[in-house]
Amino acid sequence: MRRAEPAAVSIRLGRRVALDLRANGEILAGLDGYSISFGVFSAAAVRRAQNLYSGLPLASLASESRSTGKEINLLVRRLARLGLLEYRLGRSPVDQDLVVIEPQSPDYWPQTPRLGDADALVLSRFAYMRRRGDEMVLESPRAGALFKICDPTIAAAITTLATPTQIKQLRGHAGFPGIAFLALLVDCQIIFKTDGSSDGGRRAAEGDHNLVLWDFHDLLFHARSTEGRHANPLGGVYPYAGVIPPLPAVRPSWPGKKIDLRKFSSEAISPIATLLRERHSTRSFDDQRPVTLAELSRFLDGAARVLSRSRSKPDLDDGGYAVRPYPSAGAGYELELYLSVGKCDGLAKGFYHYDAGAHMLAPVSVPTNEIETLLTSAAGAMGSLAAPQILITIAARFGRISWKYSSIAYSLILKDVGVLTQTLYLMAADIGLGGCAIGIANIDQFAKITGLEFHIEGPVGQFAIGRPANSEASD
Ligand SMILES: Cc1cc2nc3c(=O)[nH]c(=O)nc-3n(C[C@H](O)[C@H](O)[C@H](O)COP(=O)(O)O)c2cc1C
Repeated sequence: MRRAEPAAVSIRLGRRVALDLRANGEILAGLDGYSISFGVFSAAAVRRAQNLYSGLPLASLASESRSTGKEINLLVRRLARLGLLEYRLGRSPVDQDLVVIEPQSPDYWPQTPRLGDADALVLSRFAYMRRRGDEMVLESPRAGALFKICDPTIAAAITTLATPTQIKQLRGHAGFPGIAFLALLVDCQIIFKTDGSSDGGRRAAEGDHNLVLWDFHDLLFHARSTEGRHANPLGGVYPYAGVIPPLPAVRPSWPGKKIDLRKFSSEAISPIATLLRERHSTRSFDDQRPVTLAELSRFLDGAARVLSRSRSKPDLDDGGYAVRPYPSAGAGYELELYLSVGKCDGLAKGFYHYDAGAHMLAPVSVPTNEIETLLTSAAGAMGSLAAPQILITIAARFGRISWKYSSIAYSLILKDVGVLTQTLYLMAADIGLGGCAIGIANIDQFAKITGLEFHIEGPVGQFAIGRPANSEASD
């Protein structure tokens, strides 16, 4: 065990980012062939910005008060918001990196909460270390950043935190990189302070009783398969195009003699089979004739309203059951509908919660620009230029399902989303509205605008509706 210089945090450009520092003081940042201007800076600020290649000590930013400091602070904060920075932990600027911190959310900024020698720390049960390429990374779905561990002795030191350990004991551990590193991990909720005594349930809760209801894999799946809490490529980016051929649209037949079902098909089909065939995705809408409030009411009534309440099954919770038109795992009915209304005849632009029990819309105060962002993102996801008239965000009250089910809770929720989505499609088709499922949702934005933490209630699906443009009407 060695007592070395404590490691300090510095700020530097992300791996693929380059600065273009122009003679007139303009600073631009380039990434993957794209470039963005940050405006014109003083000569002194431009000189300091050069240090972003090797690393600008975080502490130096906090202590700067002169105008150059202000300029650099502004530049660095804007680069950070665009995800163009990373943070390095090292013993000196020339030493090798010990840890590289890669932000996973635009809001991440390295914070080092005060820790004392007597504080006992323990790893979050949501933290994990894994190989990424030829690197070792420490992550958590709760964390705003990912930690690339460049020194294996640090990885070993982290494993000691499987049990509560006082900082003074850690100091004696080979590879202990200093208290700043621990503080950064505490800030990211990868480790947390504990009183060190027998756990008494506190380590499952980690200071937040809503976490008790989450399995490790479920929280990770939720945070990594949605937008907002990670910096991985997302959506239809065709990562294997040209590398692996796509699978055929219809599975190749199994060999052997088949039983022909075609002779049973009849010309006359039932109303529900007709509706199923008529249902299709609508991505452009007639904004001259927006959906009316009466149609919206019919749509929600038919697809999602509580039909009856019961307390007959004692196994779920004291909240009883609130049966709706679609099936739901364990009759949990954990899904809630939030409406971003852009255009609806008779209903003001805004954000509303559908109170399925009362069949009422409850306005939720959300800034207009956030509603615009939601609607515009939905248009983007549909490859459409115009926003839908109404965007329905399907949010799950996760604990309603995970209180009962282990290991399968999140997968049940996603299955419920599929069931509800088809119900929304069918109801839209039935009343002549156009709808389209949207596979992506930003869980961090929803948390910000509703004030609901991402692990308590959050988006698991979205559905756009509106009056179909003439070109979209079914024939
Ligand atoms: C889970 C799910 C996610 C979807 N996500 C999107 C999406 O993000 N953007 C989009 O334009 N369509 C989306 N769709 C619609 C599908 O593209 C559409 O259902 C499919 O192309 C078949 O066309 P049809 O619905 O008109 O029959 C989604 C559908 C489902 C079921």
